[in-house]
Formats: sequence, structure tokens, C-alpha cells
Amino acid sequence: MSIPVRTTVNITVRSAAKINLHLGVGAPRDDGFHPLTTVYQAVGLCDDLTATLPGEQDAPWDLRLRVADYIDPGAVPVDDDNIVARAATLLAAHHGVPVRGHVDVDKAIPVAGGLAGGSADAAAALVALDRLWDARTSDDDLLALAAELGSDVPFALIGGTALGTGRGEHVMPLPDGGTWWWVLVPSREGLSTPQVYRHFDKLFPDAPAVPPPADELLDAVAAGDPVRLARLLRNDLQEPALDLRPDLGVLLERGESEGALRGIISGSGPTCAFLCESSDHARDLAGALMRHGHTVVLVANGAVAGAHLVENLHG
Ligand code: C5P
Repeated sequence: MSIPVRTTVNITVRSAAKINLHLGVGAPRDDGFHPLTTVYQAVGLCDDLTATLPGEQDAPWDLRLRVADYIDPGAVPVDDDNIVARAATLLAAHHGVPVRGHVDVDKAIPVAGGLAGGSADAAAALVALDRLWDARTSDDDLLALAAELGSDVPFALIGGTALGTGRGEHVMPLPDGGTWWWVLVPSREGLSTPQVYRHFDKLFPDAPAVPPPADELLDAVAAGDPVRLARLLRNDLQEPALDLRPDLGVLLERGESEGALRGIISGSGPTCAFLCESSDHARDLAGALMRHGHTVVLVANGAVAGAHLVENLHG
């Protein structure tokens, strides 16, 4: 007599948060998106997504979220609107296969934080489900599907430090000679990216075409020089974000007065990112900010890899 063995496959993909070392924003295009030139950096604050094939008794598709204690669990919809579900539907349609899989997302990247956490999850879903379904999607097709899902999703696939153009979806890796240390301070209350872009339009009705990032910034990144880079960090969404959330200005000043090389708003905010000289410097700054009453202060290094497999279990 043979005992039926249920074969399971567990695929875990890790995907990182991003910050923007440079975010130059132009006037909105006809489709409503803003033309960007940006320098992305993937930092070591990651979500892990695990995809499993359903057994015969199970529902064909199931998405569950587990979130870190500093994230509001109600902030993420676990329905067809979730970007992970949209990634699954898009990949399945691309290959003409049914959507199948149990997907668990362990979230550590704050929601609506300006750190592209949703984009990281979408990239992880594409990589994990591509493996789970043995779909063998080409890199070019994965990048194209990623761009359909969101402006930051192609970068979440490639990671490292990269130049982003278009609405952010065209990405080109950049030489990066540094190990960069960041202190990240998320905010309990998120900021809506479209709202920050709309406020940018209100504050800068005559925004010019976007110039590329200064060569000095690219040189500082290539040389791995945090003191030089600190001077050159730029985020055009910072002013609208601070206008909407003046409390963030106080936090940026506090971080700089406690010794950060520079504090900036990450993407559309509200997370504040402080560049430090070393890991020790970052830990000291994190301690100082916690003593000021900030309960969630994270230390993260960059640049780290894009969405990548960390576990592939057959049992
Ligand atoms: O592409 P993604 O879905 O991440 O964008 C979210 C929203 O942010 C868009 O709907 C748009 O309002 C705004 N956005 C923009 N210009 C960009 C990227 C995003 O206006 N380049």
C-alpha cells in the first residue's frame, strides 16, 4: 500500500524598501503622471513573500498579510485591489494560466510611507509566482509587467542604486562604491502619493522639464562618499510633503541637530531618512531620536539587492 504524499512547494522572495537620493519632478504629462529623473537606492528594510501551491482541498488563491507591530494592519487591503493580487492576475493573464497560490506577505516596510513597500511586494509576487508556476518569464517581460503595476516596481526588481526616468519605470543600474547607512523614521499616519503630487502641482504650477541629477551626485555615489552625497541629496516632493505635514520638518531638524549628515523626506513621505557616516553613527543617531520619544526608529544599509529568492522548499 502506498501512502499518498502531498507535494508542497514553498518559495520565499525578499524585496527591499527604496529611498530616493534624487527626485526631480516635472509638470504633469497628459496621462496625469509626472515626468521624473530619480536616483533610487534599495535599503535593507524588507518584506518577505512566501508563495505555496494550494492542495486539492484548498482554495485556488489566498492572500494573507502579517505585519510588523509598527504597521497598522488595517492600512493594507487584502482583496483584489491589493497590488500582490493584481501582480498575480497580470502574470497569469500574460501566460494564459489560472491564478493559483497561497501567498503570505510578512511586511516590515511601512505602508504609505514613501518607501515603495507596495511596489516591493508586487515585485516579490512576480518573482515568486513566476517560479511557483514555472512560467519562466523573460527579464524584459517581467520588467514590462512590473511597469504596468506601478512606477517603482521595475526598480524593486533590480535593486541596488539606479537611475529612474519616464514616470520612474525606466531603470538603469548606476555604479555605487559605498556602503550607505540610513536611519529611517516612519510615521504612524501615512501620506497619499497622489495627494503629495497634487500638492506639488499647486505649489509649482510652472514646474519646468526635469533636469537629470547633477554629475556631482553620481560621482559621490560612485566614490562612496557620504559627506559629499549628503550635500547633494534632493527631493522635489519634500516641500509639498512638509507643507501637508509640518511636524516632519521638526523631525528633520532634530535629526540633523543630533548629528545626521542630512535628513530628507523619502519619496512622497512621510518617512524621514537620515544619512549617516557609518553603522556606529547610525546606531547613535537612532538612540538619540528614540530618547526624543520616536518609538519606531530603524537602521538600514544600502544598497541591497532587488527582489530575490531566499528559500525554495520542496516537501
Ligand atoms: O505608479 P504608482 O501607482 O506608484 O503611482 C501612484 C500615484 O502617484 C499615481 O496614480 C500618480 O497620482 C502619482 N504619480 C505621479 N507621477 C509619477 C509617479 C506617480 O503623478 N511619476
